[in-house]
Amino acid sequence: MERIGVIGCGLMGSGIAEVLARSGLDVLVVERDQGALDLGRQRVNASLTKARAAGKISVEDAEDAGSRLRFSTDFAELSEFPFVIEAVAEDLAVKLDVFHRLDETMVDRGAILASNTSSIPIATLAAATTRPENVVGLHFFNPVPVMKLVEVTPSLLTSEATVTAAHALASEQLGKTPISSPDRAGFVVNALLIPYLLSAIRMFEAGVATAQDIDTGMTLGCAHPMGPLALVDLIGLDTTAAVAESLYAEFREIHFATPPLLARMIAAGQLGRKSGQGFYSYRQ
Ligand code: CAA
Repeated sequence: MERIGVIGCGLMGSGIAEVLARSGLDVLVVERDQGALDLGRQRVNASLTKARAAGKISVEDAEDAGSRLRFSTDFAELSEFPFVIEAVAEDLAVKLDVFHRLDETMVDRGAILASNTSSIPIATLAAATTRPENVVGLHFFNPVPVMKLVEVTPSLLTSEATVTAAHALASEQLGKTPISSPDRAGFVVNALLIPYLLSAIRMFEAGVATAQDIDTGMTLGCAHPMGPLALVDLIGLDTTAAVAESLYAEFREIHFATPPLLARMIAAGQLGRKSGQGFYSYRQ
């Protein structure tokens, strides 16, 4: 495979596009409008610059990766691609629309349609297409260039060939470690991670400890690379809540319920790092 499409260039889409280009693939990134596309391009460039400055890649490799990335707002340009990864917002209606459009656009009936969804059932996305055997979950972790894991999730209808191709892309092409996860909300990692993050928010909301002390507790007490509230800021409060809602809708278990503070912060536009304010301030 020489080329691949990425739909959506937010936090996850930009990271996925970067690692695909760095692995030697030609990448077409499609966004809904020029503003989102420009922001996405800036994200990828900033990350490549950071990787270069940290000595993770050579100047030549960064330039090569940059030259492999193409950006467009025209969905139709994906028509001849053999593999597309959807990484738009964690919103069911938006994702269903993308899968429906992909199904209409992509000419090759063998083309693989992967989703980076954190929590929406792959079966639901597959049902928006006429080729559910080619639809698979390919869930990356943030920040994508740094995190080694990819969850590969088939639905009940995904073919063996599609699963094999998804594993091969993650491991052989990208050098990531794939794990097989079931098609249930939260897959493996978020089913464990989200209740932990929500517990930290509840603890903060109840005034048990400061944000800093909760995070210091988990970084220094349990050797986590970052504390739970800083991690919610990194993931995005809106994304965290969206995943929690999917988990709650599926299992109806109280530890998946969105804490009121999380809902209020989202309503106030405090989405974490990407908005400049979350449990911490990121404004210069
Ligand atoms: N390419 C390659 N390497 C890069 C890079 C890039 N574009 N950008 C940064 N790096 C490297 C840095 O050089 C650094 O390497 P060293 O450790 O060798 O020095 C390392 O990555 C860390 O980068 P920074 O020093 O810039 O640190 P940071 O503070 O910006 O980020 C962190 C640190 C990687 C985020 C770390 O705190 C961490 O791992 N946190 C946990 C992240 C996590 O749990 N992610 C999962 C979220 S859940 C999710 O994504 C799923 C979901 O569905 C919600």
